[in-house]
Amino acid sequence: MNLVLTGSTSGIGWETLLALLPKFDKVFLPVRNLAKAEKLIQHLPHKEKIVLIYLDLSNLASVKAGAAVLLSQVDAIQVLINNAGGMYPAGKRTAEGVDLSFSSNHLGQFLLFQELLPALIKGQAKVIQVSSEAHRIAGPPEQDFSLRKSSSTVSSYAKVKLYNILFTNELITYYASEGLSAYSLHPGAVRTAFGSEASPWAKGLIAFTKLFFISPKAGAATTIFLATTPKENLRNGGYYKNKKLSSPSSLSRDPKLAKVLWELSLAEIQRVFSNTGTAKK
Ligand SMILES: NC(=O)c1ccc[n+]([C@@H]2O[C@H](COP(=O)([O-])OP(=O)(O)OC[C@H]3O[C@@H](n4cnc5c(N)ncnc54)[C@H](OP(=O)(O)O)[C@@H]3O)[C@@H](O)[C@H]2O)c1
Repeated sequence: MNLVLTGSTSGIGWETLLALLPKFDKVFLPVRNLAKAEKLIQHLPHKEKIVLIYLDLSNLASVKAGAAVLLSQVDAIQVLINNAGGMYPAGKRTAEGVDLSFSSNHLGQFLLFQELLPALIKGQAKVIQVSSEAHRIAGPPEQDFSLRKSSSTVSSYAKVKLYNILFTNELITYYASEGLSAYSLHPGAVRTAFGSEASPWAKGLIAFTKLFFISPKAGAATTIFLATTPKENLRNGGYYKNKKLSSPSSLSRDPKLAKVLWELSLAEIQRVFSNTGTAKK
């Protein structure tokens, strides 16, 4: 059994790693800071099962290269956990001209999924998206899906977390027949490094509210539950909170929005790679 887990170098992802490492044969950790990851894992029991791979979700070329390295070492993936992400200042662009929040929280994960697809299908994988209850405050994204015009850090974050759920739903539409399952979740309000790259006022607000947050270990519980519970006992495409099925916003259940997001994501990737992308469907 092979696991791919993003965002393992902090908070919820680190606790997810600690809990899941004993349960898998190989654990692939795409990380943007290899030195930090190497230091963190050096004394872990079962460290020999870990493969660190450089991959920055805010850089699609890096996602593609990292996925290729991963695929050169693994044939079948049973669980992919898209956990990495965070809140980034509105209006900030990546070197590839993509909104930073859109790339780090959605497009990078979308491309990673596309690139890993053969191994995911071979492993009849579960794909788990760490979304957020913040998706509920997202306004309709039709006018600005890729957040190019967004001037609000919080509104951008709400939208990308909405996208995590829309992506989960559309993934099922395309790939459930090929054996894939997908779930999204809210981890709770968790005391992590979350918000450390946000705009100054958002950072201040988060620092204050963190006083009331749950521990990263508690925040990882629903991800771990989804990764370890047999598929038969889960709802394919379900949104989970506190290890229980929950109902996400009506916007997140709109199949038209999910389709538009999927198509737009493919087009954006093609734009970045100047029409040489390998994305499918
Ligand atoms: N904390 C909460 O209350 C809360 C609530 C709802 C949802 N969430 C979601 O939970 C997930 C995990 O967040 P967290 O609270 O554990 O935050 P965190 O402590 O800040 O951890 C975020 C992780 O994502 C990685 N990451 C960020 N940008 C990346 C990029 N461009 N490429 C590769 N890796 C990247 C970080 O790597 P570095 O170590 O290099 O920084 C870190 O490992 C996020 O998706 C977040 O939106 C959190």
